[in-house]
Amino acid sequence: MQPQQMPLFSPESVRAFNFPFPSTRYQGSKWSLVDWIWENLYPLRFDTVLDVFGGTGVVSHMFKNAGKQVIYNDYLTFNWNIGLALVENRGIVLSEYDIETIVTPSGGVVYPDFIQRTFQGIYFDDAENAWLDRAVYNIDHLLHDRYKQAVARFALFQACLIKRPY
Ligand SMILES: C[S@@+](CC[C@H](N)C(=O)[O-])C[C@H]1O[C@@H](n2cnc3c(N)ncnc32)[C@H](O)[C@@H]1O
Repeated sequence: MQPQQMPLFSPESVRAFNFPFPSTRYQGSKWSLVDWIWENLYPLRFDTVLDVFGGTGVVSHMFKNAGKQVIYNDYLTFNWNIGLALVENRGIVLSEYDIETIVTPSGGVVYPDFIQRTFQGIYFDDAENAWLDRAVYNIDHLLHDRYKQAVARFALFQACLIKRPY
């Protein structure tokens, strides 16, 4: 006899099972559809989910929260970071010290100016672009855990989106 697989959560809104996910501001995001997806799929018996075009990670994150084993895939590097931070990561968070490390200029470092040169006058002002160049460098070189790096990048993506909406 097949063991009964009980859904971990009721068919109610997925928001009911502590599913915080920031607004994605991305046209192809399924942020507004995850309730519908869950309500239609939760009665099925399944343990694993393959999210082939993972994008913002909102669908993977929902299923992970529902107790499913999730494989997230996306060919863009920034999305790969989101998958690492939200799906593969099982609980690594940034400490206050990590955050200080990211936002504090490090003495003796010659910071890159890639964002300042490439995006001048487009999204953010010069001082903000310089801040971003430093933060990106600090994340890459001063955080020594790939999940912390990914969480920090995800936070940076969100901060940029909020400051300069799509
Ligand atoms: C519609 S969006 C993502 C939808 C996602 N469920 C969400 O809610 O954000 C499609 C994603 O597929 C990715 N993608 C497109 N073609 C791909 C390919 N051949 N291999 C891997 N990822 C791909 C894109 O980078 C994009 O992030």
